[in-house]
Amino acid sequence: MNAIEVNVKNGYKVIVDNGIFDKIPEYALTLADYTTVTIVSDSNVAPLYIERLKKGFLRANKRVLTYVIEAGEQSKNLSNYAAILSFLANNDFKRKDLLVALGGGVVGDLTGFVASTYHRGVDFIQVPTTLLAGIDSSVGGKTAVDIKEGKNLVGAFYQPKGVFFDIETLNTLPEKEMINGFGELVKYGILMGGTLWKNLLSDNLSLENCIADSIRYKAEIVEKDEFDNGVRALLNLGHTLAHSVENLSGYTVPHGLAVGYGIRRIAKACKNNGLLQNSEYEQIINVLDKFSLTYIAPFSDNALIRASVKDKKAFADSINIIVINAIGNCSIQKFKLDKLGEFFND
Ligand code: NAD
Ligand code: GLY
Repeated sequence: MNAIEVNVKNGYKVIVDNGIFDKIPEYALTLADYTTVTIVSDSNVAPLYIERLKKGFLRANKRVLTYVIEAGEQSKNLSNYAAILSFLANNDFKRKDLLVALGGGVVGDLTGFVASTYHRGVDFIQVPTTLLAGIDSSVGGKTAVDIKEGKNLVGAFYQPKGVFFDIETLNTLPEKEMINGFGELVKYGILMGGTLWKNLLSDNLSLENCIADSIRYKAEIVEKDEFDNGVRALLNLGHTLAHSVENLSGYTVPHGLAVGYGIRRIAKACKNNGLLQNSEYEQIINVLDKFSLTYIAPFSDNALIRASVKDKKAFADSINIIVINAIGNCSIQKFKLDKLGEFFND
């Protein structure tokens, strides 16, 4: 079992293991003496896992409520947010009760945002069931919903009380969702280098070790910069062009594939501009290919760059880009917007 500490002000543990699912209620109930537990999930995950989770809390004599949203990004919205708040209020869910996010990043971000605001903040735990949520979205306390003006535009920093990731839940995850998670996994590999990168290169990869390393890396970054004013920006490696691709495609290109493309382009730009050695560039391309991150965006560089300016991470006439100096050595570099085309030019 990996128990990774996230040492922020209200610190917590991320427990990662195979086959811990039925123990999650027991772990969660060591956090506090909750009366009611509300499990939020989605229409794909609930039929697979909600009854199992519910059973453990019932066995401990807790009152258990469940709330199931339609699966998909379109559910991460203000109307579901308001509907869950009303559900909790109408069911006498109190300030000292527990919310549980059972699912991928959509359920996690939405439930976390509800938790951050209901009664000005209630306890919640994350039970991620996608690779992406397990290595990224469930850790670090970013919660959000989308509005029509933009993705994740409304949200809060609000840490969970614990994260419990049973890797076995990935056995039911569709392959395209695994590939989605690989986009973030390769990102962590390039940022961290070391054991994680070696593991990604290996023919005998240990997914559990990759997951634990990614979470450890993320926890360290979040500890240094919980509120995203500095080094946490490193976690946006490959994300500038990825957000543009998602935007221009009307969100039909999955996030992980878009991140894979963003990494491919930034790696090439770093090599062409003399920042990254050719041998490491080739390793990155091989790893992207190995994890089926082979999507190539059909948009012109002009269109991609214009779209990135509209992204919330762009400031005035410049933009922060995460550059790869070497595997395990990335940095934040500010670019004048009119120089960006030149940098990405093949
Ligand atoms: P998701 O939650 O939509 O899950 C993907 C699909 O897999 C859904 O259809 C879901 O029902 C299904 N699914 C989930 N677990 C399953 C399982 N074990 N078996 C079968 N089906 C399963 O998507 P995601 O990729 O997990 O998360 C994407 C979201 O995460 C986006 O909204 C993104 O903005 C957010 N995100 C947040 C952060 C953060 O720091 N908070 C970081 C990265 C991404
Ligand atoms: N996924 C980016 C972050 O948590 O900051």
